[in-house]
Amino acid sequence: MTSPQTLIDKTRAHVESALSDDGSGHDWWHVHRVWSLAKALADAEGAARTVVELAALLHDIGDWKFHGGDETVGPARAAEWLTSAGADPQTVSAVVEIVSGISFKGAGVPTPMRTLEGRVVQDADRLDAMGAMGIARAFAYGGHADRLIYHPGQPPVMHQSFEQYKKNDGHTINHFYEKLLLLKDRMNTAAGKKIAEERHRFMEIYLERFFKEWNGES
Ligand code: ADP
Ligand code: NI
Repeated sequence: MTSPQTLIDKTRAHVESALSDDGSGHDWWHVHRVWSLAKALADAEGAARTVVELAALLHDIGDWKFHGGDETVGPARAAEWLTSAGADPQTVSAVVEIVSGISFKGAGVPTPMRTLEGRVVQDADRLDAMGAMGIARAFAYGGHADRLIYHPGQPPVMHQSFEQYKKNDGHTINHFYEKLLLLKDRMNTAAGKKIAEERHRFMEIYLERFFKEWNGES
């Protein structure tokens, strides 16, 4: 069996080359930030580092948004990679479970994580969808997907199913209300919640200014 550190090093190189030229906010540097946050949260919460690091590195290797809504591509790719890289079967299944369950699926859809390692990686991924990073990524994704920045006649929709959420093609400001501002109260870990508070506040301040400027105020 390959040693944990070798596995992490090989996985990092694999993911970096696979995601290096993405323009949708799911690029290597998103993964790099999630990986760093996940390591810090894992240490604060006492989660197993190898599984956390591997799952953080592989969590966006086959996002459904870029595979016609197919949610099975990411977990399948993660399993294939880890097996070929020499991970033991328990590590493969722990990481694949996290990659399968990590995504946000709509305001009204719970996305529970069974393991502490899963809760840590999900929090780390969600923190990178909040704050200054989250704002940058939302507009990057909106541009990539040809979305308007904002349209005053289109109110947000609280999606009650993943199918409904996947079909959504509204403007990017709605995404704040449909997902980003909901993340703070969906954090799993104490360490994640703490970081989420400030990132949440920053988005609220940003939106206040956005609407002021939209309305032609100073
Ligand atoms: P998760 O990691 O929970 O699966 P996603 O992959 O759905 O998150 O989203 C990744 C990034 O893309 C996030 O920063 C998210 O806010 C952004 N994003 C996803 N859908 C939209 C959208 N409809 N409009 C703007 N940004 C979006
Ligand atoms: Ni991600």
